[in-house]
Amino acid sequence: MNKVLVSLLLTLGITGMAHAAGDAAAGQGKAAVCGACHGADGNSPAPNFPKLAGQGERYLLKQLKDIKAGTSPTAEPGTGRKVLEMTGLLEGFNDQDLADIAAYFSSQKIVIGAADPALVKQGEALFRGGKVADGMPACTGCHSPDGSGNFAAGFPHLGGQHATYVAKQLTDFREGNRTNDGDTMIMRGIAAKLSNKDIEAVSSYIQGLH
Ligand code: HEC
Ligand code: HEC
Repeated sequence: MNKVLVSLLLTLGITGMAHAAGDAAAGQGKAAVCGACHGADGNSPAPNFPKLAGQGERYLLKQLKDIKAGTSPTAEPGTGRKVLEMTGLLEGFNDQDLADIAAYFSSQKIVIGAADPALVKQGEALFRGGKVADGMPACTGCHSPDGSGNFAAGFPHLGGQHATYVAKQLTDFREGNRTNDGDTMIMRGIAAKLSNKDIEAVSSYIQGLH
């Protein structure tokens, strides 16, 4: 290969550092072990196990890598994302397997829940308006007005997710128990502005959002 071609290939990044595109069909079989908690189609029946159906592929893959790193027996404290229930589960999967599993759950359709009517008003105000006085932006800016997220940017889909799970994530971000939102600490910064009541209301609102 001549030098010009080599440098062109390097520039284009197509030198075998292939980015693993997920194969949903291959992922279905690999995801069998996940069904017990997350549901075979990613619609988990239990409120503390997140729904994965219809979630963005990029977000799912990032979480899987973070959870694998965070639950590895050799993980440094504070690396990745710790999910005790998934300890050891991802050890046997390589990056391609994780990409396939992410593609599979992303291709499924989420079943939307319902919001508590008593909390809708407060939840909606927070989701759509943020807390101006505290400098907290609206959730819609990143998670979109219908809660469908921004898949290309890796902002997760929230609409229809179990309120119990959402409330736990917001509390974990606030208390520093979930730290995989990057160096910008986007979600830790936002959750710091939320009271327990705010979290209850916005999580209930999200459960019914579509
Ligand atoms: C024993 C139950 C259990 C099994 C089996 C399990 N998970 Fe999980 N998973 C959980 C729990 C609980 C959480 C949420 C933990 C928390 O509250 O942060 C979670 C979180 C996740 C998340 C993060 C979701 C999000 O919205 O951020 C992904 C992705 C995930 N699991 C994928 C998988 C995959 C893929 C498998 C199979 C290889 C699997 N899980 C097997 C219990 C389980
Ligand atoms: C500036 C962008 C931005 C804004 C505004 C924002 N988020 Fe997020 N949010 C993110 C990103 C990015 C992640 C993914 C972090 C990661 O990779 O783990 C996230 C993750 C989450 C998660 C975890 C989802 C899951 O499946 O585990 C919840 C819940 C959440 N956000 C709720 C909210 C709520 C509620 C608001 C408004 C009060 C909000 N977010 C505002 C960017 C944002």
